[in-house]
Amino acid sequence: MPSIHTSTEQLYLDAQKFISQYYRETEKSKEELTSRLDQIEDEIENKNDYQLTLDELSYGAKLAWRNSNRCVGRLFWKSLHVIDARSITSPIEAFKKLCEHIKLATNEGNIRSFITIFGPSENRSSAPIQILNHQLIRYAGYLQEDGSIIGDPQSVEFTKLCIQLGWENVGSHFDILPLVIKTNDGQLHLFEWPEDIILEVPITHPANQGGSELGLKWYAVPIISDMLLEIGGQKFYAAPFNGYYMSTEVATRNLADSHRYNQLPQIAQAFKMDTTNKSMLWQDRALVELNTAVLHSYEIAGVKMVDHHTATKQHQQFEQVENKSGRSITGDWTWLVPPMSGSLCPVFHQEFENRVRTPNFFNKEKGCPFHKN
Ligand code: ARG
Repeated sequence: MPSIHTSTEQLYLDAQKFISQYYRETEKSKEELTSRLDQIEDEIENKNDYQLTLDELSYGAKLAWRNSNRCVGRLFWKSLHVIDARSITSPIEAFKKLCEHIKLATNEGNIRSFITIFGPSENRSSAPIQILNHQLIRYAGYLQEDGSIIGDPQSVEFTKLCIQLGWENVGSHFDILPLVIKTNDGQLHLFEWPEDIILEVPITHPANQGGSELGLKWYAVPIISDMLLEIGGQKFYAAPFNGYYMSTEVATRNLADSHRYNQLPQIAQAFKMDTTNKSMLWQDRALVELNTAVLHSYEIAGVKMVDHHTATKQHQQFEQVENKSGRSITGDWTWLVPPMSGSLCPVFHQEFENRVRTPNFFNKEKGCPFHKN
């Protein structure tokens, strides 16, 4: 294709790579592949761009999940439901679509994986819709004058922005943040989620009364909304996707990390642990109790959650399926090993090649899939 610009040449090469993979894996014929590639070539020559069909978009999003080296839940990549929102440019319509995503994904606790894909663009500022939230559902964080924080310390910056935009908050430890959308005219649009679509789980401990008095809770569905999805050279700057939680994400990280909700000292107190010396392993014991409480609470609330033993075993099954299909596996050991009891989980004893394949999800800020949140 000598007549067109290098970047469109690159676009064609990326399209060719993805479309060929899609057609190969879904066992379509060589003739079908050739005719589709000719079509794309024409489209790029005429419009400097091409459109993925809904089937291609759908398969591409699933491959992006399968290629996510940090994700331990990849066994279920084929079960992703794709909502095509590529034609949406109005912020209110985008908000409505995302409410729908939350409802469908939450499914009264029987969580299903969904992705809502807004229109592609060459760069971030020209994206028809951008979502400024890290996750669609997240708790606010308020920096106090004395330097302490109410709520989730990770949300302090974003919470400030919401307040500047006129958001009226309650100021509690668990305020659900509103949605902030940026349109390509640079305008920001703020929407409050209807309360009845957000499912939350109060945390109680099966044995210890004190555990229930901590006033902890967490939301049901993690929906990452700040990553870039790339399929066949097309970049989707807004493509929020969800799975369901592994217990350690909530208990070991969100509620226990000292730079997050920092709850281990309170748990230790509720369980009357001797905290004079770290070598008594009170933090480790408290961590186990908090994980027990979180698993128990999601269970009795009827909200889907997986423990780290089951999840890592499922990742091994994923590897077996991939190998059987003649594909090699890539992975990021530092993410696949859970943040507690690592060596009890099979992934700890393995090595992974951390090579990045596309389609994939990328971190927008760093432009790098290895960036840790
Ligand atoms: N670790 C993040 C959190 O605790 C969620 C990341 C996505 N997790 C998932 N199970 N799909 O909120």
